[in-house]
Amino acid sequence: MYSDYAALTYHASLIADERRVQPFQSAIESVVRPGDVVADVGCGTGILTLLACRAGARHTYAIDEGPIIELARLIIEKNGYADRVTFIGCLSTRARLPEPVDVIVSETIGNYGAEELILPTLRDACRRWLKPGGKLIPQALELYCAPITWPEAKPDLSVWREPVCGFDFSSALSFAVNQQHPRRLSPQHVLAEGRCYCRVDLTPAALDGDALPKVAGTASFRVAQPGVMHGIGGWFKAWLTEDITLTNSPLLESPTSWGHVCLPIAEPLPVAVGDEVEVTLRAVGGGGVLCWDVTWRSVGGESKTFRHSDFEGWLATPERLRPLSPTAAPGLGVEGKMQLFLLTKLDAGWTVEQVARGLRESFSSEFPTDEDALVYVKRQALKFAR
Ligand SMILES: C[S@@+](CC[C@H](N)C(=O)[O-])C[C@H]1O[C@@H](n2cnc3c(N)ncnc32)[C@H](O)[C@@H]1O
Repeated sequence: MYSDYAALTYHASLIADERRVQPFQSAIESVVRPGDVVADVGCGTGILTLLACRAGARHTYAIDEGPIIELARLIIEKNGYADRVTFIGCLSTRARLPEPVDVIVSETIGNYGAEELILPTLRDACRRWLKPGGKLIPQALELYCAPITWPEAKPDLSVWREPVCGFDFSSALSFAVNQQHPRRLSPQHVLAEGRCYCRVDLTPAALDGDALPKVAGTASFRVAQPGVMHGIGGWFKAWLTEDITLTNSPLLESPTSWGHVCLPIAEPLPVAVGDEVEVTLRAVGGGGVLCWDVTWRSVGGESKTFRHSDFEGWLATPERLRPLSPTAAPGLGVEGKMQLFLLTKLDAGWTVEQVARGLRESFSSEFPTDEDALVYVKRQALKFAR
């Protein structure tokens, strides 16, 4: 299946990335003590679990919501540690551990740091599983940004600015400039020295409050390289321990497996050395949604301010948003009705074949052949079965 191919290719890039694996190895070796119990949140192929086992962990709980956990099981068995690892194949927030842990390790760090939801994930794991005095890896994230020129020869945003076959596609622009674009930055794209706009502590004390630690901050820049500013680039520096760090800075000589986040401004802006750029970034919902404000002041006194947000990048017509209204009673469309039928029957103990037959009888226009119904049920059964 393509998704399994994509998952393997992705995880291959992760374990091949020495700039990522080495600091985690050093951190685990310095934090995990013989006899410790460890939770590896988002274990992937199991590399961090293996490192914890080798460092002497008595037991490690390897948790991953994706099918990659099946591969982790094989790899850990092949390396002789199967008797010291429990695999838990679900979202960590749903996982129950039978004992508290000494160390929680998690590489769920996104391109700009927070977008893979490491904050809510670690807060939940820390509150439910960590022993008093236990440790987290990483223990802090520093979030960096800088004004950038877009990292493609032909910026993908400009597609919307130009006619295609003589037609005007510019209606897309107001959405596209309000979306996070994962791209890979190199030193030539960065117009001013990157600055840390926010440090997020991931210690048990910092994760103890009702609210998540704030991911927000402001940074000011002096343009050091003239060019056209298309937006802001973001990256991170993770403090795995007090003295072991890991970064995906675009200024590194060779890139890591991470990309970077690029946040556009509404219009490309020629900037000169000495111009001032002020950026305010704010993440919502633990890091998934970003708002970014950018103010440019030229040496000559001109200025412009741009305000952007992921919320504005959502293709949200009033029709699409209708079911979100608290007073809406939207009912179920055909897909919803088919799912309801299928889940009810699977839960009642029907076989895949019986459900497929029943579906075809009740939704004949959706399934031209028995085979179509069977394929549909098998896909859903893979997703929802016990
Ligand atoms: C960047 S990969 C890291 C994999 C592995 N730890 C490594 O270092 O190579 C992140 C993994 O975490 C999993 N993941 C992310 N958030 C999770 C969560 N809250 N619960 C369980 N798995 C999660 C993803 O499915 C993915 O396999």
